[in-house]
Amino acid sequence: MLDIAFAKPALPKSGALVLLIAEGAAPAGLAAELDTEMEGGLTRALEAAAFKGKKGQSVTLWAPVVSVSKLLVLGMGPIAGVDAEKLGGSLYPQVSGEAHCTVAADALTASQAAAVAMGAALRAYRFDRYRTTEKAEDKPKLEKITVLAADHGEAKHAFAPMKAVAHGVFLARDLVSEPANVLFPIEFADRCKELTKLGLEVEVLGPKEMKKLGFGALLGVAQGSINEARMVTMRWNGLSGGKKKAEKPVCFIGKGVTFDTGGISIKPAGGMEDMKWDMAGAGTVTGLMAALAGRKAKCDVVGIIGLVENMPGDNAQRPGDVVTSASGQTIEVINTDAEGRLVLADVIHYAIEKYDPKFMVDLATLTGAIIVALGHEHAGLFSNDEELAQRILAAGTATGELAWRMPLGEAYDKQIKSDIADMKNVGGGRAGGSITAAQFIQRFVQGRPWAHLDIAGTAWSSKDAATIPKGATAYGVRMLDRLVADHYEG
Ligand code: BES
Ligand code: MN
Ligand code: ZN
Repeated sequence: MLDIAFAKPALPKSGALVLLIAEGAAPAGLAAELDTEMEGGLTRALEAAAFKGKKGQSVTLWAPVVSVSKLLVLGMGPIAGVDAEKLGGSLYPQVSGEAHCTVAADALTASQAAAVAMGAALRAYRFDRYRTTEKAEDKPKLEKITVLAADHGEAKHAFAPMKAVAHGVFLARDLVSEPANVLFPIEFADRCKELTKLGLEVEVLGPKEMKKLGFGALLGVAQGSINEARMVTMRWNGLSGGKKKAEKPVCFIGKGVTFDTGGISIKPAGGMEDMKWDMAGAGTVTGLMAALAGRKAKCDVVGIIGLVENMPGDNAQRPGDVVTSASGQTIEVINTDAEGRLVLADVIHYAIEKYDPKFMVDLATLTGAIIVALGHEHAGLFSNDEELAQRILAAGTATGELAWRMPLGEAYDKQIKSDIADMKNVGGGRAGGSITAAQFIQRFVQGRPWAHLDIAGTAWSSKDAATIPKGATAYGVRMLDRLVADHYEG
């Protein structure tokens, strides 16, 4: 992670300098100081460039004074509507070629200064484990950003929990970015075990234990692969030092298909490599647990992930097979590519039986149909609980991880009736594919407060955004961290 420091406003001794100027504002504070040192040169340059401080407007001056290698003046737009985190994210690529950068946030509040740092840190993420021949000049040089703020102590204080969340986001992005030959269920579970360092309780179950629990749906998916299934439970109890367990915890459940070939109902070759990130729900749950533990959140949260690889093979399940889920309900597997819901069915049942959760949220790259419906801008939100749904939508809006409510209903549920078992794992046709998938999951929640986020369209991005470089987005970590904060901390 980018090294972040906070300091009181003063001209830097070296490196790049970023000045943030609101729309219509004259250079003040540090900007005025620099202007004096430049003998009015900054004012002249901004005038010549017709700089008005509009959002996204920028002026670059190379080495305007001996101590500054590059000066970037960035417009913030109207001061009332500044999105400090986006600002931090969008300035990063413009200074990433410098060894050090100072950002003058003296026109902003302490929490905004912290948000600038958070934005830059999030944007600076790179998954470069497997780049061995990249030339040094092609790599970003920037290792440290110093953010100048009037109340730099307060800014540093505000940044501490953000930093923990950033670490959670990076863990999720790392997991999602890993190729499936490296990150198979056992390896994923091993990486979860490392989180005991943060104070998380981590428990791993293998096929034997899951068989005992009657996990016929999850194990049916796993049986075509030589990579054994795992289920990982991570608990963070930050209430009363973890002693008080009387209250019901909140549960987050993640789909962790480390690779989804489709199984015997095999997928076409084009784009199949994307199915390495069919474990993004589990990645997000893991990153969320790391974030909560990292910031020592006052909450009692359990994250449970079902880890399998969906492969064709001589022992793979066949279309038409009937499996018995942990709930006792039987499922006719019409399409082996509708595997995520089979995994979730058993994990959700387990979560209810073992933890009796206050409410639960599952995350899954569940259907291509949600991409058809919502594109890549919103995740699909399904819920049987009005209040929970509204809280999730609000947490999403507050963190920029957007969700859109989708319907549930009897008429959709009918479509998964089976002639031979309690249900089948796909609807009649392609119509409403994300909804019939959600109906399937709902059959395992026993009427408990529950929400399902279909993140197939939001887990991976094909283009850079302000705070999310292209690739794994870690969608949901920040939204659910906020949801937990709102629930427990008010
Ligand atoms: N993992 C896929 C869904 C997916 C598609 C995720 C694209 C990310 C990007 C899921 O397991 C799947 O294969 N769903 C099928 C369901 C169908 C067989 C009813 C689909 O969406 O085609
Ligand atoms: Mn599938
Ligand atoms: Zn899948």
